[in-house]
Amino acid sequence: MLLWVLVFCLIFPRTESYFSEENYAEESEMQAATVVIAIISRNSAHSLPYYLGALERLNYPKERISIWAATDHNTDNTTAVLREWLTVMQQYYHYVEWRPKDKPISYAGEMGPKHWTNGRYEHVMRLKQAALNFAKKRWADYILFADTDNILTNPDTLNLLMAENKSVIAPMMDSQSAYSNYWCGITPQGYYRRTAEYFPTRYRYRKGCFPVPMVHSTMLLDLRKESTKSLAFYPPHTDYSWPYDDIIVFAFSCRVSEVQMYVCNKDRYGYVNIPAKPHQTVEDDHINFVHLYLEALIDGPPMYLSRHVHVPPKQLDLMGFDEIYLINLRRRPDRRERMLWSLYELEINAKVVDAVDGAALNSSDIKILGVDLLPGYYDPFSGRTLTKGEVGCFLSHYYIWKEMVDMQLDKALIFEDDVRFQGNFKRRVMRMMEEVEQAELDWDIIYLGRKQVNPDEEEQVEAVKNLVVAGYSHWTLSYAISLQGAQKLINAEPISKMLPVDEFLPIMYDKHPNEEYKSHFLNRNLQAFSTSPLLVQPCHYAGDAEWVSDTETSTLWDDDNVPTDWRGSYKSLKGGAPPPGIQSAAYRDEL
Ligand SMILES: *[C@@H]1O[C@H](CO)[C@@H](O)[C@H](O)[C@H]1NC(C)=O
Ligand SMILES: *[C@@H]1O[C@H](CO)[C@@H](O)[C@H](O)[C@H]1NC(C)=O
Ligand SMILES: *[C@@H]1O[C@H](CO)[C@@H](O)[C@H](O)[C@H]1NC(C)=O
Repeated sequence: MLLWVLVFCLIFPRTESYFSEENYAEESEMQAATVVIAIISRNSAHSLPYYLGALERLNYPKERISIWAATDHNTDNTTAVLREWLTVMQQYYHYVEWRPKDKPISYAGEMGPKHWTNGRYEHVMRLKQAALNFAKKRWADYILFADTDNILTNPDTLNLLMAENKSVIAPMMDSQSAYSNYWCGITPQGYYRRTAEYFPTRYRYRKGCFPVPMVHSTMLLDLRKESTKSLAFYPPHTDYSWPYDDIIVFAFSCRVSEVQMYVCNKDRYGYVNIPAKPHQTVEDDHINFVHLYLEALIDGPPMYLSRHVHVPPKQLDLMGFDEIYLINLRRRPDRRERMLWSLYELEINAKVVDAVDGAALNSSDIKILGVDLLPGYYDPFSGRTLTKGEVGCFLSHYYIWKEMVDMQLDKALIFEDDVRFQGNFKRRVMRMMEEVEQAELDWDIIYLGRKQVNPDEEEQVEAVKNLVVAGYSHWTLSYAISLQGAQKLINAEPISKMLPVDEFLPIMYDKHPNEEYKSHFLNRNLQAFSTSPLLVQPCHYAGDAEWVSDTETSTLWDDDNVPTDWRGSYKSLKGGAPPPGIQSAAYRDEL
């Protein structure tokens, strides 16, 4: 009997606990779906550190991700950068497949590395197909294709796309322009077709996940869905007669397999670089990418470098100027930082000057500085006189002119700190200045950014492309100034008859409409020009959610008790008030 008890206890050692309900173990969590990320890279050493940085930061368990990476036909350091990253990162990912090829470095018959020959299309289709086969063979749940100039700055992108439960889905990528990674229409021949939906989608006036005939560059395929079994990049479908292009071949494959492509724009997911044109170079592509990086700094989320690749430091220069000034208020370190990052990326060496903080001045300080109002000056929009912010802004510019004269600097470039750079900024400025020198143009200031009051009435400068004689303008966002110009502005003794600096300049080049103001300044012979198109814009306009003006939000210059703000000043708006419900200036740009 004793023996039986013993045997029973050996067989069922913890009978009690087995049958008590509170000790049942919960079912464990599901593991995340498995994903293959396909990296197909050519000549992208400039974007890879950001691309890889974004992959690293995806909120997704790396042990559930395999990387399939191929690179070939490179003339730059792409292979080394990818190899360096994979060497460190392979320990975190489930598996890494690495397919580098050093030779050849070009395709037969190509005009340059940005030219797509049929041979190149075919090669890319084969690579994508190989990545897809790899994912299927390993029974991956998903495959994410993401071109290496597509930066997924939103770390939740993968989860957000998966949650939509679609066979083929793309996150809408933002860019420097209207360009993105989807089409809303396709012609019967398989070409891009303009549609009424494109812009409202691109600028998120309608938000959601929309069925579209084309997504490309970054897209997620759900390989668990039956229908995706028959999708293929290569060889093209036997009925295929559309252009020989990997993205169109795949869109056709989806169509014949009855798989609907979707694009989502509910969130901001990241950025796509505008593709370079066939005759352009890797360097052109790099410059476009720098501007994309700058956009991301303004509109966010910004791009971050990978922690695991080495990035060589940039060589900054003065673009041929004697000095480049960045005017920044100390209490706006966010703007200083953004501008310095931007200028660094553009390889421009600027000197930060602490702006005179108008808001920190009281009316007696202002009197001590010798500041007096131009008799009769009123802001035409709000009907008020000068604000302290405007006094500070004027003095900031004035002290730079004075430094130029004191140090006899031939020419300088001045930036305020809320500047959005137009594409190819640095090269365009340098080219323009070279032409100005060659033409021996007698110039005092050249606006790079301003608000034109009468845009139609300006005369083109003959010897210099993209330069006009400046008419009445507002703003002092950025301008080049010559020593002679600085001297003329100082000689006018504007401190004792002050008005906002952006009204003072047009008086000095004799284009201000107010005769009364002009009568206080005798030598109105400033030679003022402007680039056309403009090379910088403000980051934000009045009425934008992010907009703050330090010049217009302060108190009156001679009364510390009268606060001022921007409301009512249409000067800060882009071409008048935006239509109701439309905040983005870019929308109107593109239309
Ligand atoms: C190429 O990349 C590797 C790895 O990031 C780096 O060590 C090397 O200095 C780079 N070479 C050039 C010329 O940039
Ligand atoms: C996802 O879609 C499939 C059809 O493709 C459907 O059967 C399934 O229930 C959906 N899953 C969720 C979580 O909605
Ligand atoms: C103005 O500010 C200065 C310090 O900047 C201070 O010494 C002075 O007393 C202030 N004057 C008035 C009238 O508040």
